[in-house]
Amino acid sequence: MSYYSKKVMEHFLHPKHLGKIDNADGLGDTENLRCGDSMKIYIRVGPAERIEDIKFLTMGCGAAIATSDMICDLAKGKTLEEAEKIKFSDIADELGELPAQKLHCAHLAEKALKAAIKDYESKKKK
Ligand code: FES
Repeated sequence: MSYYSKKVMEHFLHPKHLGKIDNADGLGDTENLRCGDSMKIYIRVGPAERIEDIKFLTMGCGAAIATSDMICDLAKGKTLEEAEKIKFSDIADELGELPAQKLHCAHLAEKALKAAIKDYESKKKK
């Protein structure tokens, strides 16, 4: 049986990016239909298309919360182009040992950030 690493527990119990950004520039709203967990990622985009602020609201397991918080850590300060390249495996690597059965939580975080960026891009075109 796998257990969460110390780092996963730290991000689960004390997430730094938990919350919502009012009038966010981009919102990624995703869910995993199999497990029922859902994740929202809000981004504020600044000059040079850099992510100035990023927050999340997640309803789900400990790993879903930890991976949401970690993707925010990884994306904050990056350009949208750089942030788009963040993969679920980067989140898992950064968290240390993420149990294999919880890798889909990191997938969900990747999907939520990509959706937030896409939402920003589509609003920009209008
Ligand atoms: Fe589904 Fe964590 S159990 S996202």
